[in-house]
Amino acid sequence: MHAILLESFGGPEQMYIGEWPKPHPGPDEILVRVEATALNRADILQREGKYPPPEGESPILGLEMAGVVENAGRGVTKWKPGDAVCGLLAGGGYAEYVTIHKDMALPVPKGFSFTDAAGIPEVFLTAFQALRWLAGLQHGERILIHAGASGVGTAAIQLASLTGAEVIVTASSGKHRLCRELGAVHAVDYQNQDFEEDVMEYTHGKGVDVVIDFVGGPYFQQNLNVLSLEGRLVMLAFLGGVSTERLNLAPILRKRLQVMGSTLRARSLDYKIRLSQDLYLYAWPLFEQNRLRPVIDTAFDWKDAAKAHQYMEANRNQGKVILKVS
Ligand SMILES: NC(=O)c1ccc[n+]([C@@H]2O[C@H](COP(=O)([O-])OP(=O)(O)OC[C@H]3O[C@@H](n4cnc5c(N)ncnc54)[C@H](OP(=O)(O)O)[C@@H]3O)[C@@H](O)[C@H]2O)c1
Repeated sequence: MHAILLESFGGPEQMYIGEWPKPHPGPDEILVRVEATALNRADILQREGKYPPPEGESPILGLEMAGVVENAGRGVTKWKPGDAVCGLLAGGGYAEYVTIHKDMALPVPKGFSFTDAAGIPEVFLTAFQALRWLAGLQHGERILIHAGASGVGTAAIQLASLTGAEVIVTASSGKHRLCRELGAVHAVDYQNQDFEEDVMEYTHGKGVDVVIDFVGGPYFQQNLNVLSLEGRLVMLAFLGGVSTERLNLAPILRKRLQVMGSTLRARSLDYKIRLSQDLYLYAWPLFEQNRLRPVIDTAFDWKDAAKAHQYMEANRNQGKVILKVS
């Protein structure tokens, strides 16, 4: 089969389409002909040699896909050749074929293209896990979502709004309109405003119940400061770095805060199956009623994978960047 391979670790120019052995499904797996995959920041780090795949997983980039079932292992009865599926992968998505556990695969929602469906798994599973499993976001609460127009941010805004929470985001100013369309009631231009001051002013000094953070060190103190009593901070990435110069931890005790961190790729198969099935039960009816949608910025042909990586690295995307596999 063809797959996007790496000449060596480094920049986007290291990627090329080459030959790679076609995978074989195990007894509980299906083989899927990939129609579309999607970019994630982790792909960029892996391409640079800074984020090795978990042991035993494909070294090929790509954490999600949508495509057509080609055949199935002997223990699989729920899927048949020709079924349209999408799902989260531990790697291997930038290829013509992938294998996936039968319970990690989810049907492409009715009326969705493969491009749309490829934009669902990683960001909706991450946002769903953060909001519902970790932060326990409740109706009537207030949430601050950083990087609101990121792929995960666009999923989180919608999921939080549907929960009945009031959503505040930070994003560069050109992306505020999208965040508001998705359900944010207030957007902070973090490049020109101090988000802590802005959020405290907007909330009349009350702060927020939940913060979803991707920035890390530079935001840690301010995240603690904007949380209200019994607030929850979920840290999902360190786009701004892992360290902070001076820190006052007092808010954690004084306000009885919870600080959590999470990943998805390294979780056990059992955990990822439970999360996928939980998201499926909650979100698929909403996708099919047009009450929830993956936000697709651009779909590139996979021959243009380097351009797609450059586009994401320049922070130009709002929502997902897709690669159409042909
Ligand atoms: N832990 C997990 O389970 C998990 C799962 C999935 C993704 N992630 C991580 O979550 C992050 C978001 O992923 P994604 O795919 O949704 O990203 P994305 O679509 O590429 O969006 C990232 C956005 O973050 C903003 N940003 C970048 N650097 C920033 C900085 N230093 N300070 C503030 N904002 C910054 C930019 O938007 P602006 O134009 O608004 O600045 C950028 O477009 C990534 O770091 C990814 O690795 C974690």
